[in-house]
Amino acid sequence: MALTNISKFLAFRRNTETREGMCPEHGPFTEYKLPTGNWSGCPACFDEREKRRKAAETAEARRIWRELEVEAAIGAAAIPPRFQDQSFDTFKVCSTEQEDVLRACREYVAHWPAMYKQGHNILMLGAPGTGKTHLASALAVAIIRAGGTAVYTRASAISQAVRETYGNNTGRSEKQVLEGYVTPELLVIDEVGRQLGTDADKRVFFEVVDMRYERRRPTVVVSNYSMRDFREAMGPAMASRLLEDARVLLFVGPNMRLDSRIRQAVKTEMPSKSR
Ligand SMILES: Nc1ncnc2c1ncn2[C@@H]1O[C@H](COP(=O)(O)OP(=O)(O)O)[C@@H](O)[C@H]1O
Ligand SMILES: [Mg+2]
Ligand SMILES: [Zn+2]
Repeated sequence: MALTNISKFLAFRRNTETREGMCPEHGPFTEYKLPTGNWSGCPACFDEREKRRKAAETAEARRIWRELEVEAAIGAAAIPPRFQDQSFDTFKVCSTEQEDVLRACREYVAHWPAMYKQGHNILMLGAPGTGKTHLASALAVAIIRAGGTAVYTRASAISQAVRETYGNNTGRSEKQVLEGYVTPELLVIDEVGRQLGTDADKRVFFEVVDMRYERRRPTVVVSNYSMRDFREAMGPAMASRLLEDARVLLFVGPNMRLDSRIRQAVKTEMPSKSR
């Protein structure tokens, strides 16, 4: 096979016109007249061009692969669809408090390898509608984009998942379910508050936080509680575990959820205003 190719090539060269050329970069070369009528040009230049083209192709292929991986990871992170497109960039800053919490989240991502290594937690506290879920989701997405693994969940979803193992129809044990919340490098637990109603709910939440604490895995805990209520609800042992190496972010401001609904209502009720 190779031999016939070589003899074909030699026949091509015997029958084909050649001329000497001078490449400003590679010096003298012999070029061939191609069947198309064009001259083949400097072979060294040709090789370099090919190399660059192949490198660009693989870099582009790698970029596309990476983007697909990121998209899949964001999908697997279980971030509520409403928040998947929310980012640090869409978080409006109208007060120094909002500026502080946004900056803290950006810094956390910028120093992710160190934050991960130290198992540095974040506690987000604040009234409803102040953007906690918005920033917690944006943080999870940003960590994934930075190459980490992150999962979003609600406190109630953890106890729900554990309860589902009791009938044993899922084929998963409680331990396996809890393990699933310990594996991701970053876990966001949203809506930790009065939802932790029963002792069983509390127990599984504590279990997850404990397991992550023991493995030094960072956790973002999001709650509507005030700092005092949070400490009281957690109890001193759990509170100190969560706060041992943690940044507390206090969200203050108007209820943006209400705000956007009011704005929406105003828009639909007063179309004449734009005239
Ligand atoms: N600073 C902000 N900039 C832009 N949108 C915001 C901001 N704060 C809240 N929102 C939006 O308001 C709504 C309620 O915010 P959310 O994060 O769900 O509040 P919380 O989790 O604190 O109750 C969401 O749609 C969110 O995107
Ligand atoms: Mg929320
Ligand atoms: Zn050349």
